[in-house]
Amino acid sequence: MQDTIIRERFRVDRRIGEGGSGMVYQGTDLETGEEVAIKLSFARGAAHRSLVDEKNFYDTLAGGVGIPRVRWFGSQDEFHVLVHDLLGPSLEDLLDYCGRTFSLKTILLIADQAISRIEYVHSKGILHGDIKPDNFLMGVGKQGHTLYMIDFGVASEFDGVGSASTPEARSLTGTVRYASIRNHNRHQQSWADDLECLGYVLLYLARGSLPWQGLDAPSQDEKERRIKEMKTRSTGEMLCEGVLPREFGTYLDYVRSLPAGHKPDYTYLRKLFRRLFRTQGFQYDKVYDWTLKRFNELRVAEIHDPPSLAPGKQKRQAPKRKRREEPDDGEAEPARTDSRPIRLPPVV
Ligand SMILES: Nc1ncnc2c1ncn2[C@@H]1O[C@H](COP(=O)(O)OP(=O)(O)OP(=O)(O)O)[C@@H](O)[C@H]1O
Ligand SMILES: [Mg+2]
Repeated sequence: MQDTIIRERFRVDRRIGEGGSGMVYQGTDLETGEEVAIKLSFARGAAHRSLVDEKNFYDTLAGGVGIPRVRWFGSQDEFHVLVHDLLGPSLEDLLDYCGRTFSLKTILLIADQAISRIEYVHSKGILHGDIKPDNFLMGVGKQGHTLYMIDFGVASEFDGVGSASTPEARSLTGTVRYASIRNHNRHQQSWADDLECLGYVLLYLARGSLPWQGLDAPSQDEKERRIKEMKTRSTGEMLCEGVLPREFGTYLDYVRSLPAGHKPDYTYLRKLFRRLFRTQGFQYDKVYDWTLKRFNELRVAEIHDPPSLAPGKQKRQAPKRKRREEPDDGEAEPARTDSRPIRLPPVV
């Protein structure tokens, strides 16, 4: 089959993701030989601006820790094309790989970085608007332990002004499962909303699901209404009870209490989790649950198949991805393709 080459420079190799705004492929920069990620979206139609906007947000964020570098942006045929750094697996991929729950240590290592990423994005006058496990990816190589933030497809500019809490007739943005209560209420979002979504993500990483998943409802609107009701009825403390230490409940209650346009105290939130990290006796050694699992798998493989006895053997295959449950909260999840590789971070 003939290769697809964009602008005589980027070869499209295989599909690695699919979302609301288009397709994501793994590719190769033929000038440098480096692997890249290529995001495509239709240049016409309702969503035609979203990749252009996303590219502009990446430009504003360029140089930040945990922000992928844009290598090229342009159009080809009827597509907008965004080429950026190829990253490793998402938190959703890694949750699958680790048996659908993470340890407290791993969650705290994620929380610390995620708060800093969100703070950085906010410092540049941007709200992410779709904080979810699929939009946090681990880096590769030397950055294998760094948490990256991607997908600025529904991001918006925000500087605290115009943060009126008057309801607006618009639809919920982002993902219902992780949406903030303000977003459910169709109020304009503010800095605290990204952090509230992160609170639900952390809870999800500890439980493997959220309490409002699997709700039965006659329609999507009704389902969303019930999810909102569940979120509104339970305090952060109630949501985290028996699942995570009380600091997580404190985090959620704090971010939910912030009025629109009120800047969150990111340092306070990081300190809350860092203190917990220390009292638990954890080490900042960049060792996540998946690092250990991968290390043990490689060790077992080496015992059974020592490299010296198997010269020129094929590269070891990554573990097969477990099939995920169907979305149960009315949110379209990115379709998984069989060809999509699991890019596990290297063992450090
Ligand atoms: N730079 C990258 N490196 C590796 N994988 C990537 C990269 N960018 C995106 N992906 C994969 O593709 C998926 C979809 O990408 P992205 O979130 O940018 O698209 P989207 O169309 O906005 O998706 P959605 O609407 O589902 O949020 C990601 O969850 C991730 O698995
Ligand atoms: Mg996404």
